[in-house]
Amino acid sequence: MNVDVLTNTARAMVAHGKGIIAADESIDTCKKRFDAVGLECTEENRRLYRQIILTAPKIEQYVSGIILFDETIRQKNDEGIPFVDILTARGILPGIKVDTGTSALALHERESITNGLDGLRERLAEYATYGARFAKWRAVIAIDADIPSEACIKANALALAHYAALCQEAHIVPIVEPEVLMTGDHTIERCAEVTEHVLEETGEELSRQGVAIGGIILKPSMVIAGSNAANQSTPKEVADFTVRVLSATVPRELPGITFLSGGQSDEQATANLQAMNALGTHPWKLSFSYGRAIQNPALAIWASDTQENVAKAQEALLFRCKMNSLAAQGTYDASMEESRTY
Ligand code: 13P
Repeated sequence: MNVDVLTNTARAMVAHGKGIIAADESIDTCKKRFDAVGLECTEENRRLYRQIILTAPKIEQYVSGIILFDETIRQKNDEGIPFVDILTARGILPGIKVDTGTSALALHERESITNGLDGLRERLAEYATYGARFAKWRAVIAIDADIPSEACIKANALALAHYAALCQEAHIVPIVEPEVLMTGDHTIERCAEVTEHVLEETGEELSRQGVAIGGIILKPSMVIAGSNAANQSTPKEVADFTVRVLSATVPRELPGITFLSGGQSDEQATANLQAMNALGTHPWKLSFSYGRAIQNPALAIWASDTQENVAKAQEALLFRCKMNSLAAQGTYDASMEESRTY
């Protein structure tokens, strides 16, 4: 492990005002997103859509890295230039999703475990030859009256830590993503309690496996009431609860935390990030690594006319990148949404 290489990459991923685009949907998830806007999920449509994201003008001003899927890291643009080379030439770090999805946790059928450790050392070595500088692994924790179980939290924490250790061995920065799902009617207090416990267990397992904390990026969910909860959380509540939980669990030497959006609306995800940064300076950078909340408008615009709407879709992506960059600096205001041209 070369700690300097890892910390330099991790710091670049959370450079001031910059965040990450998660464009790493698996084929099944991509199909869900494409179905929702009436697009056929062919390999060529996936390549064309990813080309829009990866070549969108000026996004390098707001984006430090883009997470790719296994298929995408091997693909090229219309002129035959590998997508990874395009990103690198623009100063955007290429990342790669390396988990292979979730399956039911044995003896805990309502809970899941993330797969992909088998052969991971070899896959990381291959991704490094493609130019991947960081990786992502998502663990999923659901909340209900009697879950999450200790079994689920501990099994996922161990898998995350083992993945992170393998990444660091390969000089690739691991994004450690323990997602506490928003699905359900739980309160923000319950989400805080679960998230705190998940982050504590994950942190303990990371240090037990010898992972260098200065060379990882944490990608948690925000602390927020369930999507069907009677009382929906305000940005101030999300900010207060999330920063409190992070302060209690995340070491100061971690360079940055880039949140997932998890089903929040585009503007809600931006407003919540803004509210956290408006609280003052934190030991770690607080930024974004959104999938849906940054791509939604671009995908909908492109789907409505895949021939004519390429530039418009890229404009929409750039706008959301800019709004989230401002939120990462604590200088976003909801009134700025009115200046959008899409
Ligand atoms: P969302 O922002 O759509 O939750 O996706 C982020 C992500 O990378 C999930 O693994």
